[in-house]
Amino acid sequence: MTQTMLKPLITADEIAERTKEIAVDIRRDFGDEELIVVGVLKGSFLFVADLCRHLGINVKVDFVQTSSYGAEKSSSGIVQIRKDLDVNIEGKNVLIVEDIIDTGLTLTHLMQIWQTRKPKALRVATLLSKPAARTHEMNVDYVGFEIPKKFVVGYGLDHGERYRNLPYIAELIDDASN
Ligand code: IMP
Ligand code: MG
Repeated sequence: MTQTMLKPLITADEIAERTKEIAVDIRRDFGDEELIVVGVLKGSFLFVADLCRHLGINVKVDFVQTSSYGAEKSSSGIVQIRKDLDVNIEGKNVLIVEDIIDTGLTLTHLMQIWQTRKPKALRVATLLSKPAARTHEMNVDYVGFEIPKKFVVGYGLDHGERYRNLPYIAELIDDASN
């Protein structure tokens, strides 16, 4: 019988600490200029919520949604935009906020589309990054934690829509030996 186990990887306290540090970096880089924070649903919802609280007042928040992995643990290789931006980003400072960058496919695709809309700046913040999984190389401006090529859940990240509400990050392990 296959049993699923959660192996804690990053604690809620560590996430909170790192989120504050990233916010300091972002504020330093943009100063008092307006910043449009764009969360990529659904995985980034907690990170956006916590990061925003440390970003000061000149911030607008928007969300986009791309196609999801469904209940699979690997990407279908196809990126579809299911919900696009509500705001016009021409001439604006835009910060895309992701839960995790795995292959880099999703973000490479979004960046390509949004660059054509001529933002003043287009930067990327991600809570987690798996550098060893990258097939689409890209520049990531703000990274919370680099992790090994393992499947993780919690703090927004799911497996078949479960575990998003965990306050910490855990590795999801299918233990087939039980
Ligand atoms: P990429 O396009 O391969 O970079 O994948 C990005 C998206 O895949 C993320 O925004 C997540 O929604 C999902 N994803 C990638 N790795 C994981 C993981 O370990 N756990 C949960 N979701 C993941
Ligand atoms: Mg995502």
